Amino acid sequence: MNFISDNAYGAAPEIIAAVAAANAGTAASYGDDEWTAKLRTQMARLFEHEVAVYPVIAGTAANALALATLSPPHGAIMCHADAHIVADECGAPEFFSHGARLIPIEGRDCKLTPDAIETMLKRFQAGIVHHIQPTVISITQATELGTSYRLEEIAAIGALARKHGLKLHMDGARFANALAYLGCAPAEATWRAGVDVLSFGATKNGALGAEAVVFFNSGDVRDFEYRRKKAGHLPSKMRFISAQLVSYLEDGRWLATAARANALAMKLANGFAKIPGAELAHPVEANAVFVRLPDKTVARLRAAGAIFYDWTPPEQGRTLIRLVCSFATPEDDIARLLEVARAG
Ligand SMILES: Cc1ncc(COP(=O)(O)O)c(C=O)c1O
Repeated sequence: MNFISDNAYGAAPEIIAAVAAANAGTAASYGDDEWTAKLRTQMARLFEHEVAVYPVIAGTAANALALATLSPPHGAIMCHADAHIVADECGAPEFFSHGARLIPIEGRDCKLTPDAIETMLKRFQAGIVHHIQPTVISITQATELGTSYRLEEIAAIGALARKHGLKLHMDGARFANALAYLGCAPAEATWRAGVDVLSFGATKNGALGAEAVVFFNSGDVRDFEYRRKKAGHLPSKMRFISAQLVSYLEDGRWLATAARANALAMKLANGFAKIPGAELAHPVEANAVFVRLPDKTVARLRAAGAIFYDWTPPEQGRTLIRLVCSFATPEDDIARLLEVARAG
């Protein structure tokens, strides 16, 4: 019963097969291959827009290189206080941008709001040489707490970004899970709502290790290609990264795997909702469940072999735990986990 993260599971068999198929014969290196070309076409069709697509091998690289391209060293990047970019990337965005500062902002269910951003923006005076200059707003979709921004919430932040001349970046490590939850077109959840650059995740949802930076405005690409090379994210055998992404998008695979993971999370949430003493901490709008349980229940789950993170330290006999479902989580694990939680 492994609920530690969606990346604890392996890759979808179809994606493994696609990588094996790409292994036949020779191919041009450094992204001049047919899979990378196909990926560009697929992404343009998917987003109903011209896009510049750059595969990389990790989400941290996608975020850090995208943000560094969007922000000069004296820039300020607004993000949620629990955003992966500020909490879990070891300072990569600051490092690759040569010093842009991430500005953490609090917000319910891990979401930024236009009001909270606007309040923070007032602290930095435009054109004052002593102040860092706001350049980017970054939101995560789905968020680090398993919630999803609604289209109107993204659009409101997009409008604010435009009003202040800022770029809007979306960390889409779990973009598929959010989209499967919202049931909308990729275009609606991104550029139509004002998103300029998307870190498009695939690793957590069935790829071996593949993400892509997607620019919706060619003017924003600037020196990205040099930055990617300098950061070591231009693999010579790019075909294997692109082949994963091509297969991921084919036949709606990415949305099917995400929908399965989401459905399992929803089953867990519905199950916990009926267990006395269990309290869901956040709405379940993707593939993660945050639930507060009595410590004895948490211990019983671990004793039964369940693997998961304590999200916060125990408090008054209860602990908030995180349970993440993946495209490959066995259905039986859900029933078993709930049965153990219910017992006693
Ligand atoms: C919200 C979010 N963004 C980005 C990432 C990318 O991380 P990695 O560099 O491990 O691929 C993760 C992984 O946990 C994540 O949860």
